[in-house]
Amino acid sequence: MALLEHAASSLDDYLADGGGRGLERALSLSPRQVIEEVELSGLRGRGGAGFPTGRKWKAIRDIGTGERFVVCNAAEGEPATFKDRLLIRRNPYRLIDGVSIAAYAVGAARAYIGLKQVFGQEADALAHALKEMADAGALTVPVQLVLGPDHYLLGEETGMLEVIEEREPLPRMARPFMLGLFARPPNENPTLVNNVETLSNVPHILAEGPDWLRASGTESSPGTMLFTVAGDVVREGVFEHPLGTPLNVLIEDAGGVAGGRDVKMVFPGSSNTVLLPEQLETPLDLESMAAVGSGLGAGGFALYDDSTCVVEAALMFCRFLYVESCGQCPPCKLNSGDLVEFLEALERGEEAGELDTALARARGVTDGQKCGLPTGTSLLAQSLLLGFEQEFREHAGRTCPSPRRLILPKLVDHDEQRGRFTYDETYSRKRADWTSEEAADRRPDEAER
Ligand SMILES: Cc1cc2nc3c(=O)[nH]c(=O)nc-3n(C[C@H](O)[C@H](O)[C@H](O)COP(=O)(O)O)c2cc1C
Ligand code: SF4
Repeated sequence: MALLEHAASSLDDYLADGGGRGLERALSLSPRQVIEEVELSGLRGRGGAGFPTGRKWKAIRDIGTGERFVVCNAAEGEPATFKDRLLIRRNPYRLIDGVSIAAYAVGAARAYIGLKQVFGQEADALAHALKEMADAGALTVPVQLVLGPDHYLLGEETGMLEVIEEREPLPRMARPFMLGLFARPPNENPTLVNNVETLSNVPHILAEGPDWLRASGTESSPGTMLFTVAGDVVREGVFEHPLGTPLNVLIEDAGGVAGGRDVKMVFPGSSNTVLLPEQLETPLDLESMAAVGSGLGAGGFALYDDSTCVVEAALMFCRFLYVESCGQCPPCKLNSGDLVEFLEALERGEEAGELDTALARARGVTDGQKCGLPTGTSLLAQSLLLGFEQEFREHAGRTCPSPRRLILPKLVDHDEQRGRFTYDETYSRKRADWTSEEAADRRPDEAER
């Protein structure tokens, strides 16, 4: 419970709990020594790719021309994740200290925390904490909150940079460490982008030393991770465990499968290969998940029981990835759109077409990709089409044998007492051009108000 046990609702609370010691120690070291401490801890990014954090910081400090910036990625757009919002609600001060330490280490001129405008509670908590810390002189650089649109690509690191520069979150080709915020030749402005949970670990590492992280987890994935569990479980929630904890322990935390049913499939967010019942003992660390052909992602899991129709589940996630694709790269938008059409036709009880054609679409979706979104589409769709081939074939030309309405686990709030997340029920009305039916249905005089 290393991260979750430290809550603070005021700067005084935070300091009384030992907060601030990490920043103090960081400032007593040189920036390079701070980076070394983070490297020695073995911390790896918690935003999805698991990139070694110290190595990233070193690259930002050593490479490129111009100013440097730090961006905290608090967009949390992956379905079945809620951990970043929970961390911000519990302790915004520690996160801001993490941002301050990162800015000092890489030599940044200023820092940004980017989140969605719809995350009102988290934005308020951060704004309040930022004011208290600025007034107390506890920031190493100016830190600005940026509230962005409710699109998945806000969380893609270059989409986030675009929004900070006041444009739509359309991903760029060059990664932020190569071409960062406000870069204009000859200035490359290397920009560090780190996830909320990654940065929340940093003050502890500096305060206690690198071994603090290495006290749990595995050799190559040290520390704990916050895992979100949603779907057909008794108690939905966020649970902290050492990396390497088997998936079935997490399911037990969540009270097991609701109604005593069996697990049919577990989605590690929307961007990875789906796990099957025989894979529930997989240890949750980067290597073990890769070894079973999947990935840890942002540690969010949506579990579905054996009453679930695989066509409906596939349609729900593929539709999300199709809608959220920005369309800059035609194979991404067009192939995912074809996949959705195929699944919708199957769902309606039509013959729908060849499974092999759908598989070809799933493979082709990544052609010429600018960002990682279609990698998720490809992995997820192929794993379902191949893992449940028989069920897809049997569904063709007949009404659904196990009809059950599913709602995408796009999480908006958590009721800890009830052990339930609130899902965004309006999401199904979002269109592939990022408008929504509601907006289009309003009369012009209403839309202007
Ligand atoms: C489509 C897409 C959506 C993403 N959404 C998020 C997100 O909401 N939050 C996040 O931290 N990272 C997200 N990422 C990963 C970021 O691009 C980036 O790798 C991460 O913020 C780096 O932080 P880390 O090294 O601390 O993990 C997303 C990536 C992709 C391709
Ligand atoms: S790969 Fe897809 S989501 Fe990413 S930039 Fe291209 S079209 Fe947009």
